[in-house]
Amino acid sequence: MGVAADDGPVEHVSAVAAGRVIEAPPSAGGYPVHLGAGILSGIGDVWSGRARGGRVLLVHDAAVVEIAGMVEASMVDAGLHVVRAPVPSGESSKSLAEVERLCRLAADAGLRRADSVVALGGGMIGDLAGFVAASYQRGIDLVHVPTTLLAMVDSAIGGKTGVNLPEGKNYVGAIWQPKLVYMDVEVLDSLPERELASGFAEVIKYAFLEGGDLLELVESWPVLPGPREALIDLVARCVEHKLRVVAVDERESGLRASLNLGHTAGHGIEAATEYERYAHGEAISLGLLVALRLSADHAGLDEAHRDRAATVLRRHGLPDKLHPEVDLDRVMDALGRDKKSDGTALNMVLISAPGEVILGADPPRDEVRRAISELRR
Ligand SMILES: NC(=O)c1ccc[n+]([C@@H]2O[C@H](COP(=O)([O-])OP(=O)(O)OC[C@H]3O[C@@H](n4cnc5c(N)ncnc54)[C@H](O)[C@@H]3O)[C@@H](O)[C@H]2O)c1
Ligand SMILES: [Zn+2]
Repeated sequence: MGVAADDGPVEHVSAVAAGRVIEAPPSAGGYPVHLGAGILSGIGDVWSGRARGGRVLLVHDAAVVEIAGMVEASMVDAGLHVVRAPVPSGESSKSLAEVERLCRLAADAGLRRADSVVALGGGMIGDLAGFVAASYQRGIDLVHVPTTLLAMVDSAIGGKTGVNLPEGKNYVGAIWQPKLVYMDVEVLDSLPERELASGFAEVIKYAFLEGGDLLELVESWPVLPGPREALIDLVARCVEHKLRVVAVDERESGLRASLNLGHTAGHGIEAATEYERYAHGEAISLGLLVALRLSADHAGLDEAHRDRAATVLRRHGLPDKLHPEVDLDRVMDALGRDKKSDGTALNMVLISAPGEVILGADPPRDEVRRAISELRR
């Protein structure tokens, strides 16, 4: 993808208790990403060694109370003062009202500029708590501890934080890079199958963006979550891919847009179904098939790749057919309103081959419509 190799993430193995470490390059935020299985009890030592202040606001999804208890215990053992802030599960908590509540909680607990926020949960918590960290007292340190596959391979990396408005998703936010990302794949044991598959849709996206052995690995992936060590490797590959992209384009003026492969039609389908019928990854699964169809028609992609994608999506319970009740006109309307689209151009990501990305494509609307309606057959 034209990304200089010497700007890439660097991986090394630290003390076993804290897993392996991928170093985000300075231009991607310059922070360590710890990754392993059964490493959660080491988080207190790792963070207390880097934290500038002694207080931590532990913002966590209400669904991961036990994991929050482990993180708290580890941090308290390491001498940190932890204030727990459970947040009700679900996208509706990603709101300005919740930002205000959490900031006031931080103020009441006496958090100062040198203190930190730990975001423990999926992408919802990462975005919400990340935005709290970005704005509280003009910005305090942030640690991401992702507990969904989607958050591990995608939202915990790259520094995008924010909340939703009634007017639109992610309409208020900031780029705020974490000081530490800490991933323990064992936390995925409690994740519902559908959420696991939804995260895997993003993994499949990376596989087509990168091609090569990552695509082969993903195509041959057994039932989710899969063997632990292999899963750690797979997550690491996705993290490294995203870090390489963010390192050259933190603010999405160019290459970072490649990560939106499958997201143009995917967002349209999500919006047209009020974010209810499909989990994000399920919509991306459909969006990916639309992007690959248009890639075959407009960018010379071998048609067989679309079938390869459909096969791997199906194997993990992801949709390759659009529900007949979904209104095509509404999907097309929503495409026009997607905030990521640039004026009237669709600004789509296509590929001419796995690993060969084309940015800013603007295929004719009727062909986009045809590619979406093809999913109904
Ligand atoms: N910042 C970014 O770059 C970025 C990228 C992609 C997505 N996002 C955002 O991420 C959000 C979606 O993230 P998500 O898919 O992780 O959703 P989520 O955070 O809502 O989590 C999904 C569900 O899993 C539950 N859960 C989380 N961890 C669990 C665990 N270990 N065991 C059991 N249940 C668990 C949650 O309670 C929730 O019901 C959206 O708000 C999206 O906008 C952000
Ligand atoms: Zn996505």
